[in-house]
Amino acid sequence: MDEQISPYGKNPTTNIAKVRIRHLKEMKEQGRKWAMLTSYDMYTAAIFEEAGIPVLLVGDSASNNVFGYDTSLPITVDELIPLVRAVTRSTQRPLVIADLPFGSYQGSPEQCFHTAVRFMKEGGAHAVKLEGGLDMLPQVEKLVSAGIPVMAHIGFTPQAEHQLGGYRVQGKEDRGQQLIETAKAFETAGAFSVLIEMVPAEVGAAITKAVRIPTVGIGAGNGCDAQVLVWQDMAGLRNGRLPRFVKQYAEMNKLLSEAAEAFMNDVVNGDFPGPGHSF
Ligand code: KIV
Repeated sequence: MDEQISPYGKNPTTNIAKVRIRHLKEMKEQGRKWAMLTSYDMYTAAIFEEAGIPVLLVGDSASNNVFGYDTSLPITVDELIPLVRAVTRSTQRPLVIADLPFGSYQGSPEQCFHTAVRFMKEGGAHAVKLEGGLDMLPQVEKLVSAGIPVMAHIGFTPQAEHQLGGYRVQGKEDRGQQLIETAKAFETAGAFSVLIEMVPAEVGAAITKAVRIPTVGIGAGNGCDAQVLVWQDMAGLRNGRLPRFVKQYAEMNKLLSEAAEAFMNDVVNGDFPGPGHSF
């Protein structure tokens, strides 16, 4: 199988049999951008793979996008692992990253290692993501030395929303430099990528320039190497007030609601099942 990055085509990764962390680094070197989406189940995973998305994140955002919790804090390792397994079982090509839930890795590098191993062994994940700042460097070093690729998540870190005082843009004014230093420290510790959430666009661009590893932005401007969105936001399944950084590419909420209503009306009117759907 050809594992070279194609110089042709809209998606530079579609001719890669299996996306590896080295491909993402090569794309940064070649100035090629890529897209990442969250996925938590077999249908979306297969659809996103078919669409050419090279990296899928089984985010702890499953907490408030699958399980119905208010924030990303309550979800547990035992709740998230089966979702990771569903995504890795249903795809061949994308790199699948599992998010480490709140409380499952901050305690110590050893705790972090044991949690990450569960996601790799039981979930079949290819990499993990963790949130935080310089305190998390020992965790990253421990995982990398054990052969586990790590994406570090900086800027606004939802697991720390109570400490950060809610959903607020991070890295404003002189704090942008701190984020650049944090990203560089994660690169030195061995992280293969840095996800940057909700920072001014110029800070996202400056971090991207300062590190050789790819940056993935969400609300971090157009200067990052890659972009990620939660799929329910991207596809318009979620209703209501959305963060400014979300762009909706479909109206799934409307579509599903119309389908459900049409089905209900057919049943109520006695039109379903008709002869074509009966034995
Ligand atoms: O869990 C998640 O969905 C995330 C987002 C920032 C993409 O971490």
